[in-house]
Formats: sequence, C-alpha cells, structure tokens
Amino acid sequence: MTKKIGILTSGGDAPGMNTLIFNIVKLCTKNNFYIYGIYNGFYGLYNKKIKLLNNKNFLNIWNSGGTFLKSSRFPELKNYQIRKKIIKNIKNKIDILIVVGGEGSYQGALKLSNMGLPCITIPGTIDNDILGTDYTIGYFTALENITKAIDNLIDTSVSHNRICILEVMGRKCGNLALTSSLACTCEIVITPEKKIKKKHIIKKIQNKSISNNIIIITENIYNIKKLAKKIEKETKIETKSVCLGHIQRGGKPICLDRILAYRMAFHAIKLIKKNKLNQCIGIKNNKIIHYKLNSIK
Ligand code: F6P
Repeated sequence: MTKKIGILTSGGDAPGMNTLIFNIVKLCTKNNFYIYGIYNGFYGLYNKKIKLLNNKNFLNIWNSGGTFLKSSRFPELKNYQIRKKIIKNIKNKIDILIVVGGEGSYQGALKLSNMGLPCITIPGTIDNDILGTDYTIGYFTALENITKAIDNLIDTSVSHNRICILEVMGRKCGNLALTSSLACTCEIVITPEKKIKKKHIIKKIQNKSISNNIIIITENIYNIKKLAKKIEKETKIETKSVCLGHIQRGGKPICLDRILAYRMAFHAIKLIKKNKLNQCIGIKNNKIIHYKLNSIK
C-alpha cells in the first residue's frame, strides 16, 4: 500500500529546513509515496492546513533560508484533547509524520507517537541543543552569520577603543556563543553552561586579558545594557552592547547545512521504506544515525 507521509517544521525556523523539505519531497516522489506538507507546524495539524506536495510545488526553495512550510510554537499540543483532535483530523490521511525542529518539537512528536501516530524526527534548530546528535540543521549557517557579525564588530570596536558585548541566541545552550568565540578569538564568553560573574568579567578586562574587545554572551543570562554600563563604570572603557537577534537565524543555508539536510532526508526515507518508525535522526562522528524516539523522555 502506498505510504502517506506528512512533514512539518516546528519551533524556530533554521536555514537548511527548505533543503530538507525539498529532498524529502523528491525522494517520496521517487518512491511513489504521497507527501503532505503541513503548514505552520503542529498548529497546521490541528487546523487542517495540509497540502499534497510534489516536485513542481516549489522548485526554487532548496537553497533558501527560513521554512517554506512556515513554523509556529504550539504549546496547546500539551493538551490531551487537542492531540486527540489532531489524531482524528489525520486518520486515514497521514500514516507517518516527519517532524523537523528542536527540543520542544521532539516532545510534541513523542506525545503524538504515544497516541498511535508513527513519527520520525529530524533536528532542525540553530541552537544545536539536541542530545542525540552532534549537529542540527541550521547551526552552521547561524554560526557563520554570527562570525561575520563579530568580525564587523571587531573592526569598529577596536577603532574606537571600545568594548562591545554581543548577545547571541541558543536558548539554554551555549554552543553558538562558544564556537563563534573560538572562531573569532574572543576570550570572554558567557554561556548557560559556564556563567561568569560580573566581577570576574571586569577583572579580566582590567587585567587586559582580552585581545579584541568583544564579549560574547548567550541570551537570557544578563541584561546586556546594564552589564555594559557596569563595565564602563568600573573600567572607564566605553562599552556598547548589541543583541544580534533574528538576523543570525536567516539567510541561505551554507553548504554544510545543505549537505546535512540532504543526508538526513535520505536516511529518513530509508527508515520509512524499512518501516522502522518512531526514530530520531542524528549525526555522530560524521555518520548519519537513528535512535528511538521514546529514548528522549
Ligand atoms: O530555538 C531557536 C531560537 O532561535 C532560540 O535560539 C531563541 O531563543 C528562540 O528561537 C527565539 O524564538 P522566537 O523566534 O519565537 O522569538
């Protein structure tokens, strides 16, 4: 019997999601599977925003940023009655759901799979915060965006002998801050995993142990405006703060994300062909892997 597969993107969009959708549709068409795009994440399952896709729907999206299927956060999915309605909505229409997203999206997929909808999850988030995979789709592009922003900030900060605090995304994960600071030799990096006390930041600056004037910090740790004022007051060095915001999340995916998306799409369809469902896809030591969805609890 021909398989009916649904795909949705959920949570924050990530560069490479479109490459992934494009390849999933291509591979489904090749294998004579029906592939349905679900619009606006889990909300689209609830609201029946579902459309049959084919290669001709979106030929030019494979290298664009964002997500063609759109995304949303849908906390209502925690509600059992909402999930029951979703299961009812898709009965006989979709027999396997591919969920592309981060931590919250994985939890949503797990809940639906526990109610009888087989799911495959694929990591798509700039945060790189999913435990079972070394990398997530979108992370490398965001890292590249941040690196370029830091390079620009170094030019202007050094020219004025100023310090600049740059806040990057990551939610509860410091990967983006840490790796971008390595790429740009920024000695002060403050992450959820390694918070630095304000007095120690100031000491480092006073000891002249920073070489390029930039401090990198993950979001939701300190109020960067207040921190800049404090540093300025204590060190007498003019200090600015910049929140990079959603700029880091946009743009065409770089080749690493495109290739990762392609490899993960290929693996997802391989699992579906073998009827190996309720799995999460990941990459470990440059090998595409899968592990049980119910191991994420
Ligand atoms: O999860 C991805 C992410 O970009 C986080 O880094 C950030 O905290 C969050 O999404 C921002 O969400 P929104 O776009 O809904 O403001």
